[in-house]
Amino acid sequence: MKFRFCGRSGVQMPVVSLGLWHNFGDVDDFKVATDIVVSAFDQGICHFDLANNYGPAPGSAETNFGRILRNELASHRDEMLITSKAGHEMWQGVYGDGSSRKNLMASINQSLKRTGLEYFDIFYSHRYDGVTPVEETMQALIDIVRQGKALYVGISKYPLDLQQRCYDILREAKVPCLVSQYRYSMYDRKVEGGALKCAADNGSGVVAFSPLAQGLLTDRYLNGIPEHSRAARETGFLQKGQVSEERVAASIKLNEIAKKRGQSLAQMALAWILKDERMTSVIIGASSVEQLNNNIKCIDNLDFSAEELSQIEDILKDPVLSF
Ligand SMILES: NC(=O)c1ccc[n+]([C@@H]2O[C@H](COP(=O)([O-])OP(=O)(O)OC[C@H]3O[C@@H](n4cnc5c(N)ncnc54)[C@H](OP(=O)(O)O)[C@@H]3O)[C@@H](O)[C@H]2O)c1
Repeated sequence: MKFRFCGRSGVQMPVVSLGLWHNFGDVDDFKVATDIVVSAFDQGICHFDLANNYGPAPGSAETNFGRILRNELASHRDEMLITSKAGHEMWQGVYGDGSSRKNLMASINQSLKRTGLEYFDIFYSHRYDGVTPVEETMQALIDIVRQGKALYVGISKYPLDLQQRCYDILREAKVPCLVSQYRYSMYDRKVEGGALKCAADNGSGVVAFSPLAQGLLTDRYLNGIPEHSRAARETGFLQKGQVSEERVAASIKLNEIAKKRGQSLAQMALAWILKDERMTSVIIGASSVEQLNNNIKCIDNLDFSAEELSQIEDILKDPVLSF
């Protein structure tokens, strides 16, 4: 594994991290979930990304991860960076959703209980909810650190016009924002419009979620929508309509470039993000150990020639590809 420092901090992250949004809920196979986590850890993926609502059922990914930790990796806690988040709908009633202090404080207690952890390494505000003043949300994050429930804090998907204010509040409280999490892939490049620069200027690390566009930037959909794939599953967030003809055609062309580089499409898509040193890590999802093993190998070639980059840009220039 390769590691990068997370922004201007002393903590390093593996350039490939594992996310538990899909494939680790109660609807999934616990043995496969265990094998993926253990295999990831054995290969240096020591950063695991959770959120209160991951499942389904919501909360079950945290519960299952806690079981895996206790069963398989109990003595390795200090070798891991474990994160969780709060901010999306989680329980009934007005306090079970959003970015209020009430939600964040209740949520971290629930997440600690579900995972059986004493603390999270990083706790995120999962989103700006459009209403709660960022002062309230950031103060809750600061207090979570002061209470010893998390070591560091992060923000996820914050709009550009609020991002700087978050960094300022956290910095003034001497709880700097360790990491900012944004969706970033060849098919979603909005972060290049300012968020990445703002994070880097403020010393925050940046991690990319859904770097494979939920599977579209792999060979998964090159010949239709396979049974059991995320787009085929009722509980999957990738809609069948998002597997559009244009995206599949573009992925086929990108796959040709990947082959010439001696990489799978997934490996090239991850390397393409990591070529930018401001990116700390890509948070991948995987439904099998095979996928995980394939993706990890992206680290063998993170460099692109000018010609490869220009061929890729040429394919990506069609706006219908963007989410
Ligand atoms: N902050 C936020 O709001 C937010 C939002 C979303 C996600 N996240 C984080 O980001 C993590 C990753 O998101 P994601 O799961 O959407 O990431 P992703 O890496 O873009 O997609 C993962 C999916 O792609 C397919 N795949 C992966 N590797 C493959 C390979 N080598 N060959 C073929 N197919 C492959 C699998 O789908 P199949 O199931 O079809 O096999 C897998 O479940 C989440 O788990 C979560 O931790 C955060």
